[in-house]
Amino acid sequence: MTSGLQALEYRGYDSCGYAFLLGNTIKVEKRVGKGKIRELFSGIPERTDSQACIISHTRWATHGKICMDNAHPHMDCKNEIAVVHNGIIENYAHLRKILEQKGHRFISETDTEVVPHLIEEHEKHMRFHKAVMKSLNELEGSFAILVLRKDGPGIIGARKGSPLLVGFYEDNFLISSHINPIMEYTDRVMFFEDGEMFIVSNNGIRVFNLASGGEVEKNSVRIKSGFAKSDTGGFESYMQKEIFEQPEVLNRTFESFSAEIDRYDREIDFLPGRIIIVGCGSSWHAGLIGKYIMEDFLRLPVDVEYASEFRYRNPVLLPDDLVVAISQSGETADTIGAVKAVQGYARVLSICNVLNSSIVRESDYVFYTQAGPEIGVASTKAFTSQLATLYFLNLLIGLKKGVIAKSSLKKRIEEFKELSGKILEILNTMTHIEKISASLQDRQNALFLGRGIHFPVALEGALKMKEVSYIHAEGYPAAEMKHGPIALIDEHMPVVFVSGAGRFSAKVLNNMAEVKLRGGYIITVTDDSVSEMKKVSDEIIVVPHIDNEYLGPILTVVPLQMLAFFTAIKRGCDVDKPRNLAKSVTVE
Ligand code: AGP
Repeated sequence: MTSGLQALEYRGYDSCGYAFLLGNTIKVEKRVGKGKIRELFSGIPERTDSQACIISHTRWATHGKICMDNAHPHMDCKNEIAVVHNGIIENYAHLRKILEQKGHRFISETDTEVVPHLIEEHEKHMRFHKAVMKSLNELEGSFAILVLRKDGPGIIGARKGSPLLVGFYEDNFLISSHINPIMEYTDRVMFFEDGEMFIVSNNGIRVFNLASGGEVEKNSVRIKSGFAKSDTGGFESYMQKEIFEQPEVLNRTFESFSAEIDRYDREIDFLPGRIIIVGCGSSWHAGLIGKYIMEDFLRLPVDVEYASEFRYRNPVLLPDDLVVAISQSGETADTIGAVKAVQGYARVLSICNVLNSSIVRESDYVFYTQAGPEIGVASTKAFTSQLATLYFLNLLIGLKKGVIAKSSLKKRIEEFKELSGKILEILNTMTHIEKISASLQDRQNALFLGRGIHFPVALEGALKMKEVSYIHAEGYPAAEMKHGPIALIDEHMPVVFVSGAGRFSAKVLNNMAEVKLRGGYIITVTDDSVSEMKKVSDEIIVVPHIDNEYLGPILTVVPLQMLAFFTAIKRGCDVDKPRNLAKSVTVE
């Protein structure tokens, strides 16, 4: 009964629950906690009968504290209608007030609980599925929703802004917000557009348009399989496994791009005048590195925007803009919002790790990253594969712009092949990095500084550190330190410098001297001026040099991932499921 939830538990939750039909009643089981789903529900027998109708949910608290009452499923007053919901109902306070005036009793603080009560209210005047439809049309905000009714037609589902799909397995329907849990059973899937509702029952599946109420013809599709069932493969955590998978991921990226380049070239049939990159978190950092590469190589203006700000900012768009949306999951609410905000004004290319995800389906073009399923909440292999994909996108646009000739393209692609061996060398320094992490484990704060293309790497290093170890870490351009953060530096402040070979060496050395003078503890990651940097650093991690400076960040970020990982482990943190974080942020 909980195996579907188990497949999604890596995405983060603080409570969970499910509802199913038992005789003439709806039975609900809920648990509060972040432990393994299997353990939270231990002792409850699995239901395997084919008539079982089950809806289940993992909750990541947004409205209302973490407690049993706020966990899903939520019920109506008569305990006849159960609802699970992802997303946020923005007008819930208003709806709740009206429903309370009509006598409905609420037991949770959640936005979701208005839904079963609203359906219950409308059902007084119409048939159940019409009441669901009417209720959903009254909701503002985003939802992927499942509704189960005692004596009902089966399960009703609908989506608006949050992912939901149905897989077909023998006579069963497997409904999920993500493709991973169902891939084990089937490759036949139906995806839904925003504003669609479906009913699955013994009679099959029927799809409706929520706004018109009319029935919609819809076909399932076969999706490319090849998603191995995820396990930690002998490593103690997914994060460690995923860090160690990077050489293989980069080889796959190389092979995939080499095989697809002609198709990409045909498909992207225009030369952009400007590139706007949107994303969140690590994906935004990848975009920032893309900006350093593309502006330098292509001499095109490149803007990098936080998707959450861009979508509401009323940005000026030009007809030859290319918006590049970067997302591992393809389901990040703000990035989807940014993509939708530009539709009809600019073309959208997504760089995404999940097949047929919402962002992919909203985009004009897609470059899939070849990371494979990323389970650890902290992005590692997805980040480096985003960098690799941006590098290839840059070459492709360079080809169109005439910055690079087809004859030299091959050489540029070949340079990429050096990366996986070099990452292996870095991974082999694991013991050294683990030792350095001991000097961080008891710290409260850390600064991460870099210049040029390694500045976004510093941002990413700081994000990794704070996500998994809970040490407060900030990334800055190294020179910006003088404008404020320098006030923080004393013997208690570790400062991680990221430096790649190139025009900034002398300047980075100056910044290091400034930190040293004030007693700061310096950890340096570099392939550059090693001997001078050694003199001022307390610890140094030397990464192999790569001549192509655009590829440098793919190397310098790896030790930072390892440093965050080992520091977190030493502090006893759960690296795969850091507190308060969800793998895929489907609320804005
Ligand atoms: C990265 O370690 C984070 N967990 C987070 O910042 C993530 O990159 C962000 O939420 C964006 O996710 P996406 O790539 O799936 O859109």
